[in-house]
Amino acid sequence: MSDTVSEIVDVVTETAPDVRAGLTGRREYETSENPSGEQMLAADRHADELLEERLLAVDGVAGYASEEREEIVESGDGHLHVACDPLDGSSNLKSNNVMGTILAVYDEPLPAPGRALVAAGYVLYGPITTLVLARDDTVTEYVIDDTDEGVERRVVEEDVTIPADPVVYGFGGRVPDWHDDFEAFVREIEDELKLRYGGAMIGDVSQVMEYGGIFAYPALQSAENGKLRLQFEGNPIGYIVECAGGRSSDGEQSLLDVEPDRLHQRVPVHVGNTELIERLEGALH
Ligand code: AHG
Ligand code: MN
Ligand code: MN
Repeated sequence: MSDTVSEIVDVVTETAPDVRAGLTGRREYETSENPSGEQMLAADRHADELLEERLLAVDGVAGYASEEREEIVESGDGHLHVACDPLDGSSNLKSNNVMGTILAVYDEPLPAPGRALVAAGYVLYGPITTLVLARDDTVTEYVIDDTDEGVERRVVEEDVTIPADPVVYGFGGRVPDWHDDFEAFVREIEDELKLRYGGAMIGDVSQVMEYGGIFAYPALQSAENGKLRLQFEGNPIGYIVECAGGRSSDGEQSLLDVEPDRLHQRVPVHVGNTELIERLEGALH
């Protein structure tokens, strides 16, 4: 990979071991809140600062935005607009469960629709560190190793596709806060699939990518647009799952067709096997 997108992916690859190494000793919450009104961990800020500095140094990157920053940091020139969730599922740090880093590369200024994505990926900090990358209509999974010779990225699976027979489901939010039509859909799914919910979207989406199924953080009675952010979570994950042969939805349409109006807008997120997402859209009215 030798173009700007490739350089961006190389930066995220090389930064992943530093993010992972930086988790130790950064479990305390900072006093400041992020633009979504959520408390930030020192680990969130550390990951965000590493990615901002290194991604803005890539020739061709016009700006860096993250869920931890109110404003976009412009580089002054370039044609690609990067949006990151530097540490997804950071509340899992205290319980030592999986977390991720989400990368979205748009070729339009932010906030941009998912159709403007040219690449999207996530790093999963699990038992091993992996990168799942969607670009050029295909999804590739890599292992990232931090060796004495430097950071290595090697392909473990090409043309990743969601298995045709769904196995797992995971739904965020509290049951009493779900809308009745979503809850009725869940009751059907509970009879068919196995529960896998770990509190970090990337870990839960990874289960869906590996075994087939559905992940959702739906609209809630207390939060009409759910919890997850379109630019930093919904669009990139929707792009990856759709590149892998699945579907995404805000409840009515592909996440990639949701018209953005604000950088930090939230959106109900549902991703997984096409048949399940179509059933879900039929159930929500
Ligand atoms: P982040 O740590 O980047 O704010 O993301 C956390 C999100 C997402 O990873 C996960 O699906 C969801 O929060 C979990 O929310 P609950 O704690 O309400 O289950
Ligand atoms: Mn985050
Ligand atoms: Mn997140």
